[in-house]
Amino acid sequence: MAMVVVLFFVSLFLLLLFALIKFATADGDFTLMSKRHVKRHEIEDKVVWITGASRGIGEVLAKQLANLGAKLIISARNETELERVKKQLTGKHAPDGVKILPLDLASGEDCLRDAVEKAESFIPNAGVDYMIHNAAFERPKTTALDVTEESLKVTFNVNVLGTITLTRLLAPYMLRRGKGCFVVMSSAAGKTPAPGQAIYSASKHALNGYFHTLRSELYQKGIGVTIVCPGPVETSTGTGAARSENKASSEKRVSSERCAELTIIAATHGLKEVWISYQPVLAVMYLVQYMPTIGYWLMDKIGGNRVEAAARKGNTYSISLLFGKRKAS
Ligand SMILES: NC(=O)c1ccc[n+]([C@@H]2O[C@H](COP(=O)([O-])OP(=O)(O)OC[C@H]3O[C@@H](n4cnc5c(N)ncnc54)[C@H](OP(=O)(O)O)[C@@H]3O)[C@@H](O)[C@H]2O)c1
Repeated sequence: MAMVVVLFFVSLFLLLLFALIKFATADGDFTLMSKRHVKRHEIEDKVVWITGASRGIGEVLAKQLANLGAKLIISARNETELERVKKQLTGKHAPDGVKILPLDLASGEDCLRDAVEKAESFIPNAGVDYMIHNAAFERPKTTALDVTEESLKVTFNVNVLGTITLTRLLAPYMLRRGKGCFVVMSSAAGKTPAPGQAIYSASKHALNGYFHTLRSELYQKGIGVTIVCPGPVETSTGTGAARSENKASSEKRVSSERCAELTIIAATHGLKEVWISYQPVLAVMYLVQYMPTIGYWLMDKIGGNRVEAAARKGNTYSISLLFGKRKAS
């Protein structure tokens, strides 16, 4: 009997140790990590429309999806960059079958309606199967009070209003076919407080709210939604705020190739929300989601130090942010 009890506790200890090591070295949440491979048949010959495909994660998504045999439509504002990306694509329908659809998400409903009509008619006898909302606007980090009205408007116009309008205009086509999937590139900043990125964080929280609700309304009618929340990602071709900041610091970032691969795995397995990041961001996401009192307490300790770290272009994801200055008495 004693032997059985000892064996039980040893197995429990080993299991816990294994889970801890897995968690410490993971670059995604547990559900995502359990899905090891892309379901190729869910992508091959499907029409996939990607916004923000002119650089960064969007460019890498385009490369991987082309290789998987997707029929691609790539969008962004910069047509020259889209041409450059198209030339590099290889696959069953690439580069020749790849359609370029220049698009400014802040251009208003009429322009976005034109874009949706073009996207729907590009490929004979087929409409958009996957809409990947990847484009976004991000300013360099500032405090929540230093945000200008201009920056507030630009961020929300692109990240929220443009993205939602495009969805509203495209979804009816998908509903008529009884199938379609929206893949939304949100952020860890859409799940937790993001000191120094208040407006960006607010825009991503807004997207999460809209798209989880959209799914709940349309899921029974064949419309899927996968919300992807990455922490810091290394983008070798990006020119945005994240790029200039990640060059300057020693933050450990998931590669854009891995982020794109995990995004496609999540979408092809129909996962509803996934988190992609190394530690400590992943652990903070779990804390805020499942133990909010502790999670928000932690973020309140970190917040001021993170804003200061961003100002001196230091590591804004370091565990050492916890041990900065104490609250003035
Ligand atoms: N990189 C990270 O660490 C990270 C972390 C978490 C989440 N994310 C999210 O992942 C996505 C991609 O990030 P990234 O780092 O690859 O971004 P990025 O390198 O800055 O690229 C942004 C893309 O969006 C397009 N874009 C910007 N404004 C637009 C507009 N008004 N209309 C249409 N397209 C527009 C840009 O093309 P044009 O300039 O040619 O229009 C570009 O292709 C974003 O949603 C971002 O919030 C990134």
